[in-house]
Amino acid sequence: MIFEILTIFPSMFSSPLEEGMVGKARDRGLIQVRVHNIRDFTEDKHHMTDDRPFGGGEGMVMKPEPIVAALRAIEGSGPAARSILLTPQGRLFDQDIARRLSLLSRLVLICGRYEGVDERVAQYFTDDQISIGDYVLTGGELGAMVIVDAVARLIPGVLGNEGSALEDSFSRPVLEHPQYTRPRDFEGMGVPPVLLCGNHETIRRWRRGQALRRTRTRRPDLFARLELSPEDRRLLEENGDG
Ligand code: ADE
Repeated sequence: MIFEILTIFPSMFSSPLEEGMVGKARDRGLIQVRVHNIRDFTEDKHHMTDDRPFGGGEGMVMKPEPIVAALRAIEGSGPAARSILLTPQGRLFDQDIARRLSLLSRLVLICGRYEGVDERVAQYFTDDQISIGDYVLTGGELGAMVIVDAVARLIPGVLGNEGSALEDSFSRPVLEHPQYTRPRDFEGMGVPPVLLCGNHETIRRWRRGQALRRTRTRRPDLFARLELSPEDRRLLEENGDG
């Protein structure tokens, strides 16, 4: 899968997308991340990417011409692409959107800055607008990184362990159960004895119970949408220490 990122701060992407699983996936050719500097597509002497808003008001607005020139320049350089504008006005990113995006061959992520992007870019040159959360960042760059990370790990081969992407929180709408590793005693804090009992079925039931309790406490919105099995109901009653 190819990610094309349009930004005025290309260097923000170097380290975050070169480390860990995403970095490895790039090295192995499973994904490509191409970062384009919107400023390279300006035609005026000062390489301006923003301007004052029509109608007055605070702040600056990103001009349409350089963004559209960048989109046109990359248009034929790969398979058909879906283009997404990162903005707090977009629909909220979640695992379901990540899963859909992971099926694409090429994804263009346009990072807005300043007070926003000229509305004509959003209206006529993008397929979708996405926000990564109900808060305002200084730009779409961190949002684009979040999307690349969440989407890349769903691409077959990227995680190495095909089970993990399917198993984790939000693939099924419950939070994950708690995890422990060595040492068994960390500064006087132990590990739940059930995890050391060696009985896979007992451990599975304990984990499911913990996951359900955690979801009920921390994310009542998700819990309300769960369809609980008779076993789930039993586990919620039994598993009192979560
Ligand atoms: N740009 C500024 N805030 C944002 C957000 N929450 N999501 C995506 N892009 C943004």
